[in-house]
Order: sequence, then C-alpha cells, then structure tokens
Amino acid sequence: MKLVKLLANLGYGSRKEVQRLIRAGAVTDDQGHVLGESDFPPHASIRFRGEPLDPPFPLLLMLNKPDGYTCSADDPGATIYDLLPARFALRNPVLSPVGRLDKDTTGLLLLTDDGQLLHKIIHPKSGCLKIYHAVLDRPLQGHEAALFASGELVLRNEGKPLLPAGLEVVGDKQARVTLHEGRYHQVRRMFAAAGNHVLALQRIAIGGLCLPADLPEGEWRELTADERTAIFQGLGDGNVLG
Ligand code: URA
Repeated sequence: MKLVKLLANLGYGSRKEVQRLIRAGAVTDDQGHVLGESDFPPHASIRFRGEPLDPPFPLLLMLNKPDGYTCSADDPGATIYDLLPARFALRNPVLSPVGRLDKDTTGLLLLTDDGQLLHKIIHPKSGCLKIYHAVLDRPLQGHEAALFASGELVLRNEGKPLLPAGLEVVGDKQARVTLHEGRYHQVRRMFAAAGNHVLALQRIAIGGLCLPADLPEGEWRELTADERTAIFQGLGDGNVLG
C-alpha cells in the first residue's frame, strides 16, 4: 500500500491532506529521515510528527465504557468515539463496536476494524458468551434462573424465544446474567419479563475475556495476544467469574 493511502486509511487526513503533510516533511522514518510519497518502510518504523503510527489493520481494542455514551458514530450526544483518538473515527475500514451496549450500560466493549472477526465474536454459534452484572430495583424472587434458562422466554414484540441464558445470584438485588446472543436491550427486557427493573448494568466479560480491573472507566487499550485468544475460550458451563 502506498504511504498516502496508508495514512489516509489510518485517519491522518484525506489523501490530499496527507499528500500535503508528506511534502511538508511531517512523515519520517525512525531515524528522522523525511519520507516521500513513494517511500514505504515497515509500518513500525514510520513516524508522524515524530510519533509512531497508529496500529494497522486489523485493530482490536477494548474500552471500559462509561454511562452516558452511545455506541453510534452519528449520535448528536456523547459517543464512544469521543473517548478514542479522533483519527480512529476516520479509519478505513471503519472501526466498529463489537455488538452495541445501551447508552446507560457500562463495561467491556470491544471495537474492531476487522469485519470477519466482529461477525465471529457476535454470532451466537461462536460460543462467545457475554456476562453482565445487573443491579435491580427489587429483590430477586427465585424464579428468574429457571425462566432465563428455559429457552422458552419470549420478549415483548418478539416471536422467537431467547436462547437459554444463565443467572447467578450475587445479592438480594444483584445478579450475573450470561447471554449467548445479543438482542436489543436484552438483559433489561429479560428482567422486565420477570417483573423486575434493571437500575444499572455492566458488561463484565466476553467469552473468557474479563473486564480488566486496571482499565479505568473511559479508558481503552489494544488487546494482548492472550486476551484475543481468551475471547474464544469459554468460562465453562457455570460461568462463575472470580
Ligand atoms: N442487555 C441490555 O439490556 N443492554 C445492554 O446494553 C446489553 C445487554
């Protein structure tokens, strides 16, 4: 790939802007030698204004999503893209959330520019379960685990029953829910069907990848190789975290 195209795809500017930047000497190698449009050293040795380039395709990030941010790029309010470098919203291929979280749901959100990987993670057959911690308005009544596990729960305005889901009681008004699919507002609607109301919802794991305790809300980072692998390693049928 040509240098201009690479930088434009990484969101450093339009092709014209990038061309201008290259001609102005903003792009160098790691020795400080100015690069021209036809130079193309290895990605790791390219510098933009002295800084290493953003990671190339395929990019996989985790974000600890705070409350109040939507996962949609064109929402007029605060979006998850406000928490990332502005360039990331301009990447080609597009950097997309791997399954959306509601505006008021917090926790583990993956983003990738790799469409195949995205599909693989969200597809129910991939076996990548998602685990949520829910804080409820009213005490659990005791019937919820059987209802969620039944494979017969049909949400309002839907025809197809939900896949069996897990529920682990963590407190009088707190539970962990394990899903194998991702329907609209699924956890909130499941508790509504059980006569309760979710006050706060946090995604704490995707597959065997748990939200790292050292990733503060609003912060993001690339996944390590082990973390990538963990996504596709289930937590076992109990799905009981730490
Ligand atoms: N279920 C919900 O209700 N909301 C989310 O954001 C994710 C799962």
